[in-house]
Amino acid sequence: MDADRRKWNRRYASAPSYLGGAAAQFLRRQLATLQRLAPGQRALDVACGEGRNAVFLAQNGFRVTGVDISDIGIAKAERLALAQGLAVEFRCIDLEGYQITEQYDVIVNCNFLLRDLIPTEVKALTPRGLLLFDTLLASPQLLSAHNPDYLLRQGELGKIFRQFAGDILCSEESTAGETPTARLLFRKQLTPEFRNY
Ligand SMILES: C[S@@+](CC[C@H](N)C(=O)[O-])C[C@H]1O[C@@H](n2cnc3c(N)ncnc32)[C@H](O)[C@@H]1O
Repeated sequence: MDADRRKWNRRYASAPSYLGGAAAQFLRRQLATLQRLAPGQRALDVACGEGRNAVFLAQNGFRVTGVDISDIGIAKAERLALAQGLAVEFRCIDLEGYQITEQYDVIVNCNFLLRDLIPTEVKALTPRGLLLFDTLLASPQLLSAHNPDYLLRQGELGKIFRQFAGDILCSEESTAGETPTARLLFRKQLTPEFRNY
């Protein structure tokens, strides 16, 4: 969507690091679990923005692809990886209606909500692959400034992921503070043909 691209391009052009340099707190907290349980090293950062989470994963041993609609975000992400001597593949992609065709051991979806994309994210996980989700929760303070379509309802994230074959390793919602968020770590089940191994 061109309007989204323009909006995010404007934001990313307005500051050296619009979302800050540090990786998302939940991702940092779950890193050891991702490293321990991921069946391989291939990771996808969905809506990677300026690349803070993609670069963090690459710093920690993952082979990372980051995708986002904002070409300015992608250019900044490429510079961030390059400055640290890290090889990260970034692609400028509109995720609306997008099908992820490759397979990943870890998928990270932070501060982005496209409900229709979630089943394709789960499908793109390798058996035993991990999906880390961390995004905004609807609350009176956020509803005044955000499109409600892009905010999760309370309990919604758990409800979505309970439909998929796998385990929810961690699920939390915090409604306190300025940015209420819902966070979840999902592990895809082994497909039936792998189960006897
Ligand atoms: C709040 S930012 C989060 C960026 C990153 N995940 C992070 O936590 O630093 C939301 C991102 O979603 C991207 N985005 C919005 N609509 C998109 C779409 N249709 N396809 C791909 N990316 C999109 C924006 O360009 C922006 O980078």
